[in-house]
Amino acid sequence: MAKFIIQGGKSLSGEIKVAGSKNAALKIFPVALLTKEIIRVSNAPEIEDVLRARETLVALGGEVKKIKDGVFDINFKGNKYIDLPSELVNKFRASIVFVGPMLATRGKASFPHPGGCVIGAASRPIDMFLSGFKKMGAKVEILRYGSGQVYRLTAKKLKGAEIFFPKITVTGTESLMMTACLAEGETILKNCAMEPEIIALADFLNSIGAKIEGAGAPTIKIKGVNKLKGGEYKIIPDRIDAGTFAILAAGSNSGEVLIENCNPGHLEALWSLFDKIGVNYFLGKNSVKIMPVKKLSACDVTTHEYPGFVTDLQSPYTVLMTQACGSSLIHETIYDRRLIFTDILTQMGANITMCDPHRAVVTGPTKLYGRKLVSPDLRAGAALIIAALIANGKTEIDNIYQIDRGYERLDERLRKIGANIKRIN
Ligand code: EPU
Repeated sequence: MAKFIIQGGKSLSGEIKVAGSKNAALKIFPVALLTKEIIRVSNAPEIEDVLRARETLVALGGEVKKIKDGVFDINFKGNKYIDLPSELVNKFRASIVFVGPMLATRGKASFPHPGGCVIGAASRPIDMFLSGFKKMGAKVEILRYGSGQVYRLTAKKLKGAEIFFPKITVTGTESLMMTACLAEGETILKNCAMEPEIIALADFLNSIGAKIEGAGAPTIKIKGVNKLKGGEYKIIPDRIDAGTFAILAAGSNSGEVLIENCNPGHLEALWSLFDKIGVNYFLGKNSVKIMPVKKLSACDVTTHEYPGFVTDLQSPYTVLMTQACGSSLIHETIYDRRLIFTDILTQMGANITMCDPHRAVVTGPTKLYGRKLVSPDLRAGAALIIAALIANGKTEIDNIYQIDRGYERLDERLRKIGANIKRIN
């Protein structure tokens, strides 16, 4: 298994480029099922989860042609029905987004429970997807085989429906929004997620013939159309990539770091926290500069759906708080397993008290010390890299597949700002 070896305590400065958004890129592959024409995708991140989405499209009969780095054409002309490949569905949560387009164009979809980061209740639930598809006229069956189960969904023709999400869901909103594009009549989605990736997806779908109104607001209306065309989809910058680097630069607090190719407007909740804790930063149009300061102050955080503080940056922020003066309460409201990694941080020297699965108190500043560890999931993995870069001594991080799932060539990019990080295969 590949590992990272990190020698901590080096001063970090220079420029670092943000990649295309993982969570935007993953959703364009299922969109390919909705049209027979070519979609040209650009600014695509080369990460493991995107490779899995690509493999899923190909397994279903689609084509992906690389034009150059970060640019490819995707196309789905096939008429044959193929079950979603379980070995891929088991690997990434966003595989669930293929289900709606399969139903809309093939009339059925069969798949096991999707995998991905183990950060939520036992296995992250898909009940809101299933009830949304049911409202659109699909029949949902759960077939049990020994200890496993398979979902089988069938629908002659999906119909527009009014769907209320009892809990805000990003992929749920995206999934039902894209599926409704080819359903008969109007669909109204209520209590939708408002993430920038959803707006980007709706804008693209509208550019190829869909009729979507309201993306980025809690209510989205979609009028079904008969077909969609092809088009060009430029993936927006990854706000989590940008936020991770901003937090790393603030935590390392050793030199000037310029984070390029990002959209600072997508991270307002982070900047407002930076104001409170005293980070010295400057926002450009497509960049953020972080400069060293004498002292950082602790500040509580509560994760929230967009535009609130994003759960995906909670673990990096928790590491940052180990370097700030005072106590901060970290309240993770979205997932109940995203604070488990603090155990590893404590072993590195952090002073963290877990109150319950959703809340932890970090008291700083504390020195961190390198050690051997295993990356538990994608964002905790990135957070532990930050900790290792700040720490005294050597850290060995195992299971970096988890990190490669969402961060493009992270070690290469970090070396450009002076980090001592090596990949061992
Ligand atoms: N939920 C349900 N039932 C459902 C769907 C979701 O109870 O049918 C719950 C989840 O268990 C969770 C909450 O609703 O407690 C929110 O989950 P959501 O559906 O919004 O998460 P997601 O769409 O699966 C996306 C991102 C995540 C990011 C969250 C929240 C993708 C592929 N994933 O997940 O990204 O944390 O939104 O912003 O878009 C990551 O990049 O590391 C990552 C996990």
